[in-house]
Amino acid sequence: MSKKSYNELRSSRWFSDIGKAGYIHRERIAQAGFSRSDYEGKPVIGIFSTWSELNPCHIHFRERAEDVKRGVWSAGGFPVEVPCMSLGEPYMKPTTMLYRDLLAMEVEENILAHPIDGVVLMGGCDKTTPAMLMGAFAQDIPCIYLPAGPMLTGRWRGHALGSGTDASRWFNELHAGRITKAEFDEMETAGARSPGTCQTMGTASTMTLLAEVMGLSLPGAASIPAPDSRHRHMATECGKTIVDMTWNDRKPSTFIIRSSFENAIRVLNALGGSTNAPIHLIAMAQRLGFKFKLDDFDESLSQLPVLANIKPSGQYLMEDFYYAGGLPALMTRIKDNLDLTTENVRCETLRQTIENAHVYDDDVIRPIDKPVSDKGGLAVFKGNLAPSGCVIKLSAASQKLLRHEGRAIVFGDRQDAFSRINDPALNIQPEDILILRYCGPKGRGLPEWGMLPIPDTLLKKGVRDMVRITDARMSGTHFGTVFLHVSPEAAVGGALALVQDGDRIEIDADKKEINLLISDTELEIRKAAWKPVDPAPESHYRELYRSRVNQAHEGAILDTCAHPNNNNFRDNACE
Ligand code: FES
Repeated sequence: MSKKSYNELRSSRWFSDIGKAGYIHRERIAQAGFSRSDYEGKPVIGIFSTWSELNPCHIHFRERAEDVKRGVWSAGGFPVEVPCMSLGEPYMKPTTMLYRDLLAMEVEENILAHPIDGVVLMGGCDKTTPAMLMGAFAQDIPCIYLPAGPMLTGRWRGHALGSGTDASRWFNELHAGRITKAEFDEMETAGARSPGTCQTMGTASTMTLLAEVMGLSLPGAASIPAPDSRHRHMATECGKTIVDMTWNDRKPSTFIIRSSFENAIRVLNALGGSTNAPIHLIAMAQRLGFKFKLDDFDESLSQLPVLANIKPSGQYLMEDFYYAGGLPALMTRIKDNLDLTTENVRCETLRQTIENAHVYDDDVIRPIDKPVSDKGGLAVFKGNLAPSGCVIKLSAASQKLLRHEGRAIVFGDRQDAFSRINDPALNIQPEDILILRYCGPKGRGLPEWGMLPIPDTLLKKGVRDMVRITDARMSGTHFGTVFLHVSPEAAVGGALALVQDGDRIEIDADKKEINLLISDTELEIRKAAWKPVDPAPESHYRELYRSRVNQAHEGAILDTCAHPNNNNFRDNACE
């Protein structure tokens, strides 16, 4: 690959210009404290940071940005730190999903409008990974992904605590009367005791690991715990690597191929990864011009068992996964199922990446003949209730509920569910099926409301799981027999909108079917009588989002972002 000359870099249009515009750009960079020798002849590297005090998962990013700068300077680049919207899962309501594409567009525009030649993308908390990569894919400039890294294992009274998974588990124990409120409160300071993303195999670790599978991060990067000094080393290496990538014009379109995504889908299964991953991978692939359907996931996903023994599917947490060898080690176990010719940011093939990797703990990263679950991680179910599909994490579901028939109990929205779930008049039984609807992309923006609570009366009897069906999402850290992302959603008149209290619903895991047991004629009558429920306007952006977003099985992507634009839009910056 030929090395670029300085005049071929985008930033040279700003800083080498001999007219008044160039004078102003240089004057202003001097204002920021830099002299010509700091930047002349060097690629400008944007360090896109999603630091925010409202995103504790990224609270170490100020320090990490300095580590990246150290790497950029030492490799002969000129680093500039650029703040980007931080999508912190804990606080953003109703859901960060509303803002994935907004952050993608922000990243895209920050690249397009500024004198930037290559970018280090600093993210990790759930949607930040797909969003930042989608933005960089759209402009197709050299980029490297710096994952925030998982937080340390939570510790409380001898128990290991994993984000989300154990909050739900212990909350149920509280409501079952097995622990006291004081004990539950004590856990608050024990679960998230360091910077970093959720240490379960939730959406954050799933997506950062899949970015690494696709070659967009340095090998091993996504498993390193956030406070580990090796995370700082990795950040500095990102800075060095992006300078090299920029000179060599190593942009995503030069090394991300369809197989990169197919590898990610296969690893997703072996990880027991998040149910949110199909939505994001479908959206990300579209930005590079690859089409994936939900069905593609099922075909690939069916092939591999779950090997990562990480909560919510397993027992351990991401810190254990790192000590057991991390992602490169896991990939050695499934290498026969991967395309080992795919490449990474450093031009190494996947074969080279994993050739010296070893598994150091067979219980954390299981051998293929001793899996955590041989059923596979995710599955796509279809039927008259979900003609375009819905997703379930089989490895985190109750096997006995996967072939099941039950009575539907319908909740119109989350508030309705929480206010009525303990209503004795509903007389909810363990075999009933709870329905939550009008929460899809156009309904409420696809929030993580899918894991409806189990009534206290049943918790006290020891019930910990029930079948739940929804057009919402669920946190990747959660567990249970929950059918998610039912598509089409209720807000566009999907079959979920037509379910009535008392209807019978059948789940058949062998056929991967989910059906409302009413006749086609009755279904048509209900469809004809259905009237859309218009949600009250909340904000200008949310109105725009609802009018342009597509369905979950299509990636829940804004239609304007659904096509690859790298060859269609002209880079006229600095004209
Ligand atoms: Fe940030 Fe889970 S809340 S990664």
